[in-house]
Amino acid sequence: MESYNIALIPGDGTGPEVVREAVKVLKAVSDRFQFKLDFTEYDFGGERYLRTGETLPDSAIDELRQHDAILLGAIGHPDVKPGVLERGILLRIRFELDQYINLRPVKLYPGVDCPLKDKGPEDIDFVVVRENTEGLYVGGGAFLRRGTPQEVAIQESINTRFGVERCIRFAFQYCRKRNKEKKLTLCGKTNVLTYAWDLWQRVFEEVAGEFPDIKTDYAHVDAITMWFVKNPEWFDVIVTDNMFGDIITDLGAMIQGGMGIAAGGNINPEGVSMFEPIGGSAPKYTGKNMINPLAAICAAGMMLEHLGEIEASQTIERAVMEVTSKHLKSLAAGKMGYTTTEVGDLVAEYCTKV
Ligand code: IPM
Ligand code: MN
Repeated sequence: MESYNIALIPGDGTGPEVVREAVKVLKAVSDRFQFKLDFTEYDFGGERYLRTGETLPDSAIDELRQHDAILLGAIGHPDVKPGVLERGILLRIRFELDQYINLRPVKLYPGVDCPLKDKGPEDIDFVVVRENTEGLYVGGGAFLRRGTPQEVAIQESINTRFGVERCIRFAFQYCRKRNKEKKLTLCGKTNVLTYAWDLWQRVFEEVAGEFPDIKTDYAHVDAITMWFVKNPEWFDVIVTDNMFGDIITDLGAMIQGGMGIAAGGNINPEGVSMFEPIGGSAPKYTGKNMINPLAAICAAGMMLEHLGEIEASQTIERAVMEVTSKHLKSLAAGKMGYTTTEVGDLVAEYCTKV
């Protein structure tokens, strides 16, 4: 029997509540499809930081490296200065495990309220491939004359040929495998950011030569935010840099029904990947059994797909669709008509039969 070692990082706020439901669903499909999951839980997050002053212990990255995948709940604590945990935990894992792709499916499930007029599940079904280790996120830059009226702040976007190429190649391969419209859109800003996007465009055109079956397209990042709202049906797979990807995927989350359902994967195709609901730790709802666990459940589904448990992953998706179409009144915390645990129970139950 196939067996996988999964590291769980429930994290802060509502993270533990949603991870609990994701694990419930994972157990349901692993029973049904006959594979084994061994979970190791890590207490990284705000509470641990406040107790110990440490974001990640030195041994953490090496321990995480021993697993087949990581499932993360949420990172962010109201008593910790913004940025400390994000940089010290989330970004550090992405960088040190070289999870160079941030994969964000944007799919509107049946029964889910969409803020776009006259758009339905047939219109909203695309995937954003965001570069996840470079660009503005590298933290390159400097202050000059800090705190004086002549202050200069430099924040550099680092784009390496190697980093851009592996991201674009992943996107082409992913687009081929997805086999929907076989259309890959490069999202950039070639008209203004003429160094970074010149490199991206050249590499994109070059790699496109290896994928004659994939149609290519280009959209400026500002225009794409407009098209997401006006014509989301135009998109199949989109590839973009770290910062633009961060921004457009929040918009993507909204058009698919909000943070209650939005999941993502931090992928190292040759290493250990980490899957997460993309919403935050929602301190307001912590411990209330009100938060929507579907995003974490969908992240667990993405994790299984990545591990090669395709049937199990598709089953989770079908079960989630049963729940969105037949049960939930809304995806918003406290408005679902069910508690967090009830939603997890429902999905787990459908996983035994759909
Ligand atoms: C995301 C988040 C992170 C990012 C933050 C929490 C550092 O917004 O996963 O999109 O900016 O990448
Ligand atoms: Mn973000």
